[in-house]
This record gives sequence, structure tokens and C-alpha cells, in this order.
Amino acid sequence: MTTSRGRHYTGLQQIAIIANSGLTLRRTCNAIARTIAKALDMNGCRVLLLDGKKEYLTTLGAYGLSDLYLRKGPLDARKSLPEALKGNITVVTNAPTDERVQHQEVAESQNVLFIAATPIVPGDNTIGQLRVYSKETRTLSDAEEDFLKASAHLCALVLDRAKLVQFKDQIQKAGMGARASALSQIAPRQLQPTEFAHESEAEFANLLDFYKIEWLYEPRSFPLAWNGSGISQMFTPDFYLPELDMYVELTTMKQSLITHKNRKVRRLREQYPGINIRLLTKNDFMKLLSKYGYGPLGESKVEGVGRVLYSQTQIQRRVRALSRKISHDYAGEKLVLIGVLKGVLCFMSDLMQHISVPVNVDYMDISQYSGAGEVVKITRDLDSPIVGRHVLMVEDIVDTGMTLNYLMSHLAAHKPASLRVCSLLDRPARRLVNAKLDYVGFEIPDEFVVGYGLDYLGEYRNLPFIGILKRELGGRRTNAHQES
Ligand code: IMP
Ligand code: MG
Repeated sequence: MTTSRGRHYTGLQQIAIIANSGLTLRRTCNAIARTIAKALDMNGCRVLLLDGKKEYLTTLGAYGLSDLYLRKGPLDARKSLPEALKGNITVVTNAPTDERVQHQEVAESQNVLFIAATPIVPGDNTIGQLRVYSKETRTLSDAEEDFLKASAHLCALVLDRAKLVQFKDQIQKAGMGARASALSQIAPRQLQPTEFAHESEAEFANLLDFYKIEWLYEPRSFPLAWNGSGISQMFTPDFYLPELDMYVELTTMKQSLITHKNRKVRRLREQYPGINIRLLTKNDFMKLLSKYGYGPLGESKVEGVGRVLYSQTQIQRRVRALSRKISHDYAGEKLVLIGVLKGVLCFMSDLMQHISVPVNVDYMDISQYSGAGEVVKITRDLDSPIVGRHVLMVEDIVDTGMTLNYLMSHLAAHKPASLRVCSLLDRPARRLVNAKLDYVGFEIPDEFVVGYGLDYLGEYRNLPFIGILKRELGGRRTNAHQES
């Protein structure tokens, strides 16, 4: 008879061997999950990865759990055993009724009663969770807890190494001659967990990544038909896009496939009326993107834009947070917002809509000259006096700081009660004149950006995201008579 200590020892030994066996990440995690479940006498186990924004958990590998349980829907990191990301082991003894379980009804139907979870923490940053499951009422002894924690440490090593392997692959793909800047762009900030079933899915995911649209791969299976008590037909859409609350099933133009998939989608809509699902070809998807304001119709990426720096959603979130901060700081006061045309148009319009104190809005227009003499010339001044008013100067981007510096002294001469600056973007790398910024949306790297009001030679202002212009276009910027 083996003691529990003996089983734990053998378990850890097996995990070490699996970790070093060179299997794919998925298979490694599946094998580790199996080993852990056996060593702890559990019905199931799974290794979960947290995404970079710490919003969703994705399954890397699992053992002993039904497909329905594994794909029961997006796992929200804030709703599914949130304490388990913080530090210690979290134990749930009655999953179907426990508030901390996100999909209680699935736990019930799949007979999951007991769950224990522990974080996976390489270094000091939590990147995932290890969970074990049982159908029976039970507890975890101290020795079992120690085993689970030790297993999580080994998983941390496995995931960290997988990240390095992916990085190495990417470098190789980029070619030996890849420049340092190119390398820093592809350096993984996080592990990519997904093994796609088809090349078109990988392509689609790439496109979503380019536009910084969040996605989850096959997070939910929908039972469509039953046969007695069993499920006879199930449908797992390819992607879920949380920002659009939309499931996407990709398809090719092949008519036979479309008919078959259409039938499934129709069924799903009938049985799950609250679910938003789209059957899309790549072309359809491009059209849809353009409807949401991404990219010109029919082209895969915006011509000239190398990559998206901030997505529409990220910008909107940040702008709202700035508005809240401003509303709080100016509580009980009236505020004059002064923008500089034209780059500030989008930012100003979004910012003011979320400010809760009374505001007046005014604009100035300027032209910038190269060469000696004055750098900035005011071509349109304020409509109303600002004497004794609280003034917030709103800028799209502060680069060298020359424009801001000039305008601030111009405005200060009009004796406002207070004068502060809010800039959506701050690029400190090229600063020539010191400028104090009171509110900043994002600090950006030394790259030329366009979109959300910002232009290159008058174009790109209408993009709803902020993108980095390809080097050959924006790398060398002339100051002569540029639009502002
Ligand atoms: P500064 O006087 O050098 O701080 O430049 C400020 C102005 O230059 C901004 O208000 C923008 O109109 C323009 N600008 C600077 N950097 C960029 C950029 O990356 N994209 C678009 N416009 C820019
Ligand atoms: Mg400007």
C-alpha cells in the first residue's frame, strides 16, 4: 500500500519528467493535470492561463472534465474564484451553490462538487491557476495542500519556459537579420495559449490582435440536440469577442460547408435566443470591422499603419477615467476647456461628454513654422474671455512641448483663476521644453502616431484607434506647415 506521501512524491517525480519531455504545451499540461488528479485522488484537474489584462482564464490542459464543463463559457477572472489569484489555496466544498463559482448550473449538471484552486506564480506575477475537482464531499489535508502548491511551482516553470520557446520561434520566423526594434515588438509579454485547428483561425486571431480586439478561442460549447439523457449534437463556435459580446464561427466560401454551418447557427439562435452569434467569412469580417469603425472596407489592415497602439475600447476606458478624475478635482466649480485644432477634436468630444461639472468649450487654431523666429502662430484666438475662470487646456499630444509652452504663456497672460493641462498622449522622449502635464491619457514611445484625431499630412484622423505609422512614412517628420 502506498502512503499519501509516497503518492505525492511519485506525482512530483512524474511532473518533473513530463515537464522535461519536450511535448507541446497542451499535451504537457494535459499530462500534468492527469498526474495531479491521480496523486490527489481527484476526479479532474486543469491548468488555466490568465490573459495579459488579467480578465479571462483560458484552459491550457485538463484531465477528467467533460467538454461541456471545460467549454462552459468565458471564465471571468473576477467572477471565478477570484481570491485564488491573490495567493493562497481557495477551497469550494459545494460548487453548485457557491457564489464564487461563475457557472454554478454547469457545476451542478456535470456533478462537480468540490474545487480547490491555487495560483501559478513564476516570480511575483500571477499568470494562471491550477484547479482540482471532485464529485465527492471532501477536504484537502495539509500534505495535499503542499503537494498542490509544489505542483503549481512546477507549472510556473513549465509556462515560463513555453514562453521562451514561443519567443525563439518568433525570432526565427522574423529572420536572423531582424533588428532590435523589430524584436522588441514581437517580444511576448505573455504566453500564447492557443493551438488553432485551422490556419484561417490563426489568421483571424492575428487580425484581431492587430486591432487589439480581445478574443477567446472556443470558450463555450452549446448542446443543440439530446438523445434521451445524453447530448447528441453540440456546437462550439470558434471565437468569442467579449468587447462586442459576439460569438464568431468562421467559414469559407464553400457552399456545402456554409449550408451545414448555417443550420447549426440557426439552431443555436433558436435555443439560445440571448446569444449573439455570426457566421463569417473573412470578407464578411472585414466588412463588420469597418462597420465598427476599424479599417477601410475590404482591406485587411489600414494602409500605412504598422500596428495599433491603443484600441477604441482602450481609449474610451482611459478617457472616461480622465473625465472622472477631472470632475472630481473640479467639483463645485465651472470649467473652461480649451482645445487646439484639429488634432484634439475626438479627444475633446469624448472627454467633455463624461465630465460632470458645468463646462464651456473654446478652441484655438495655430500654425507651426520651421526655421528661425516664432515657432507657433495663433491663427484663431478664443471666443470668450477667461479672466478669473478655471481653465483646462486640452491637447492631443505633447511632443517637444513647444506648442504647449507657447500657448500656456499666451493663456496665462489672460489671468485665469487656474490653468492646467490635460493631454491624451505624452511622448517624453522628444521633449525640448519642460511642460507640466496635470492629466495624461497614455505615455507613448518615440513613434509617430495617427488616428483618433491625429493626422499625418491631414489623413488618418478618422480612425477610431491610435496606430503607429509605418517607419517609411512617418519616421521623418517635417515641421513645415504641418497640420496640427
Ligand atoms: P510639440 O509642439 O512638439 O509638442 O507638438 C505638438 C503638436 O504636434 C501636436 O499637437 C500634434 O498636432 C503634432 N504631433 C506631434 N506628434 C505627433 C504624432 O505622433 N502624430 C500626429 N501629430 C503629432
Ligand atoms: Mg495639437
